[in-house]
Amino acid sequence: MTIDGYTRTCGLIGNPVEHTLSPLIHNTLAKKFSHNLVYVPFHVDEEKIQAAVEGAYALNLLGLNVTVPYKSQVMEGLVQIDELAEKIGAVNTLVRMEGGFKGYNTDMPGLYRAMSSEGIQIEGQEIILLGAGGAARAVAFLCAAKNASKVYLLNRSIEKAQAVAGEVNAKTGKNVIYPMALSDYHQLPDQKFLAIQATSVGLYPDTERAVIEDEAFYHKIHTGYDLIYKPFHTRFMQHVKEQGGKAYHGLKMLLYQGIIAYELWNDIAVPEEMAAAVYEVLKEKIGI
Ligand code: ATR
Repeated sequence: MTIDGYTRTCGLIGNPVEHTLSPLIHNTLAKKFSHNLVYVPFHVDEEKIQAAVEGAYALNLLGLNVTVPYKSQVMEGLVQIDELAEKIGAVNTLVRMEGGFKGYNTDMPGLYRAMSSEGIQIEGQEIILLGAGGAARAVAFLCAAKNASKVYLLNRSIEKAQAVAGEVNAKTGKNVIYPMALSDYHQLPDQKFLAIQATSVGLYPDTERAVIEDEAFYHKIHTGYDLIYKPFHTRFMQHVKEQGGKAYHGLKMLLYQGIIAYELWNDIAVPEEMAAAVYEVLKEKIGI
């Protein structure tokens, strides 16, 4: 594309941003839609985060994505925050409005759209959620909001599992999250579950480990969804498959959080064929 006086700029702020796949998602979309738009990663130091958001607004940027470690911190400087993002307590997308940016969370709707595209349901399901960190907390909100019938939230530190369960149950008014210690997994009912892996165990370069290594646990999983996409085939996924379940990695979640951000910035709906075409570009880039 030709950059000219009409080119709109979007970007990513975070630290680090050097390995991000987001420019590939957004610049591919811009090309496919023939939008005069570029997407650029910006490495921002912690003490500069508010200045970066203000500066981006002053520079007439159309929107920003926000990645680790700023998803909560960035909320201070926004003129409005979407209700879901407010509940989750994390914002990953800023949309230009009158007077400043509005914050959204597209990670969770992204996960939901990724799961739906694979035919995985949350509504009415009994779910095992592994982890109680930032990512797991957001997934717990999603599961409650989408009417899961029961979510067993397992975490190494039971206190954190209890805190997240208490908060999500209170804020959604749905008593569906049941905290458990990770080591008590053998107490889970003897049935098949959808399991969502939201701990950091197995993330590159720690690729040889899964958060639970006992194959008896994986007997209880019909579908395993790992939020990790680096590596693309995690040890958790391998365990699930070895016990006969279906396993998915987090690359489609990455795709759809980007698609939803692009939709918000441009006030359009990205058709499924377009999303699928961008997914092929992503897969080709990473060699899967
Ligand atoms: P994120 O933002 O990716 O969710 P986080 O907030 O640091 O990252 O959360 C990491 C999650 O992985 C937590 O649930 C953590 O368990 P604790 O709350 O007990 O720390 C989990 N985790 C990390 N390393 C782990 C390990 N070796 N065994 C089990 N769980 C682990």
